[in-house]
Amino acid sequence: MPISLELKDRAAAGRICRLETPHGTVTTPTLLPVLNPNIQLISAKEMRRLFGAEMVITNSYVIRKHDDLRTHALEKGVHSLIDWDGPVMTDSGTFQQYVYGDVEVAPDEIVRFQRDIGVDVGTILDVFSTPERSYEEAREDLEETVRRAELSVAEKGDMALATTVQGGVYPILREEAARAVTPFGDLFPIGGVVPLMERQRYADLVRVIVGAKEGLPAGKPVHLFGCGHPMVFPLAAALGCDLFDSSAYAKYARDGRMIFADGTRMLAEMEESECLCPVCQTTPMAELKRLAEPQRMRLLAEHNLHVSFAELRRVRQSIREGTLWELVEQRATAHPSLQDAMKVLQEEPMKQWLERHEPISGSRAYRWTGPHSAHRPLLHRLHRRLQTRYQPPPDVETTVVLTEGRRPFSAGHRERIKDHLSRRAAHFIVDSYLGPVPIELDHVYPFAQSIVPDVLDPGSLTTARSVLSLFLDEVVRTQVLADGDELEDWTFHTAEDLYADPGLVLQHDKKEGPGIEAWDLDRLRMRATADLQFGRGAAKVLLGPWEGMEARVRFHRSKRLDKVRNVQVEGDHVLSLRAADGWFSLTADGARRLHAGFQTPKLRVVVQAESATFNAEGKNVMAPFVMDMDPELRPGDDCLVVDPDDRLVAHGRVILAPHEVGGFQRGLAVRVREGLGT
Ligand code: GUN
Ligand code: ZN
Repeated sequence: MPISLELKDRAAAGRICRLETPHGTVTTPTLLPVLNPNIQLISAKEMRRLFGAEMVITNSYVIRKHDDLRTHALEKGVHSLIDWDGPVMTDSGTFQQYVYGDVEVAPDEIVRFQRDIGVDVGTILDVFSTPERSYEEAREDLEETVRRAELSVAEKGDMALATTVQGGVYPILREEAARAVTPFGDLFPIGGVVPLMERQRYADLVRVIVGAKEGLPAGKPVHLFGCGHPMVFPLAAALGCDLFDSSAYAKYARDGRMIFADGTRMLAEMEESECLCPVCQTTPMAELKRLAEPQRMRLLAEHNLHVSFAELRRVRQSIREGTLWELVEQRATAHPSLQDAMKVLQEEPMKQWLERHEPISGSRAYRWTGPHSAHRPLLHRLHRRLQTRYQPPPDVETTVVLTEGRRPFSAGHRERIKDHLSRRAAHFIVDSYLGPVPIELDHVYPFAQSIVPDVLDPGSLTTARSVLSLFLDEVVRTQVLADGDELEDWTFHTAEDLYADPGLVLQHDKKEGPGIEAWDLDRLRMRATADLQFGRGAAKVLLGPWEGMEARVRFHRSKRLDKVRNVQVEGDHVLSLRAADGWFSLTADGARRLHAGFQTPKLRVVVQAESATFNAEGKNVMAPFVMDMDPELRPGDDCLVVDPDDRLVAHGRVILAPHEVGGFQRGLAVRVREGLGT
């Protein structure tokens, strides 16, 4: 295998990977600067030294057409030609075909040539389908592309082959194209998208990328062909694009244009630049304008590259922090068409696709940037898990709905809760901007780890309210009490008309309640968290029935944080609660209980027998050894590692998502916390 991909970190459907090539390792997402083999505005070595480029792309068609370049490349290799010892990708002439209407090379010939000049990743001569192509035409183009991909395999030798996914603007064709080229390629560019980007058709771009990703294997690198503007890097990376290539830096420089993360500006109109790159720091705009053409172009190209690489560093750091959506939403304000693209991501099938990739928590707070924040896939998942896994505490007939407030909600609302409990046995749900939060789940990510505005826009408010109504009607199903500003204003409602008509029956309830001393928030918390994390019924499996829990279960609290740290059941330590994200870490005893209490495939990651013996000793599960995974598991979830006979060998945290099983040839699939012997 000439190249391979290893997953290192992830957020949204985006990821940080190590891409290994015969000429070194690349950290993705990254940008491959386009080198013109004829005129080197900026040399390959400078690309590394000045901007940190790790891989470059050049054009084999252009090299082949020029006698001197061809001879040099054939005799000494492409690396010598461009004076670069890192990985080199080449394109094939498809783009020239698209721009000039014709190329003078056969599809098999150009692949042979790329092989002969020693490139790391060569590209097939795919058929560029413009957005104007009808469905039938795009389909014909794609069939020809697939035919050429198949024919290219015989010519590629040891070279990695990039088989482009075409299909025009039709997501169905993109998916079909992706599946069809999968057997022939090592790396998969998404092609034909340059006109979409030039015309800011970002909504179409999103559909095209997701269509292609649906049909591609998870563990292979995906390249967005001709995407060099940093404005789309965060969005495209969030959808799982690993590589970008840019000739934009040079093209824009030639036209006197400066690239910024939020758009483009003409140098002629720039009086000042806020950019921190060395060019803008040392050259006032007036001086830049006065320079002779070649120097000016060079400096503008440098600025453009600095900005582009900086944005990719930002994207990668956001993936590590779990704040990629925040960045995507912020950048989407750069162009109204990016707002349209964000709307596409709110469609139900898109949300479902995104949710499959999303990790369960991040290392930083869920920071609200605007209306799109109400639709992040993580919330979508939590709402679904609440709907299908959560059970309200038994024996409580009244549910009080509290308003959004200081976090964690149980602390912020302590006085209100105390008041209510002095009058009645009640359960509490916070009508939060993130959706309904049962009070005992207020430590779970991102309910406690979120920063929201004081006043929400009407659209987001409506979204939050409709999720709450559904939750009250279908899951809670008790009478509901809306907590108003004045206790005298307490009103009984049914869930349905809770917000429809706030002036319903007033009831002053002067009954005696159990009091806050009798309210066991820890017990509620353990029960609800276990069910939400591991599935309905998990609390019973782990902690036993609700009745008699006080006698059976002991909580060990962290004095410093005043939070439960460890949970002991009948003397066994079964769970630890993570202070950072409010979810449990399993212990050996907890894993054994879940394994005995739930049938396969629930919570299981099934590994090959030869792996199981290692995992039983505490070694991590490597991707190629995973045979199957519970389709409900998500990155970051705790899981049970079992052998093919469902013997429990370890427990740990999932790194891959279920649909990625079989996709990655390298890297971890489960970070094992503890091996359980054999
Ligand atoms: N460069 C920009 N778009 C494309 C494309 O669709 N195919 C190839 N091979 N190169 C491109
Ligand atoms: Zn600059």
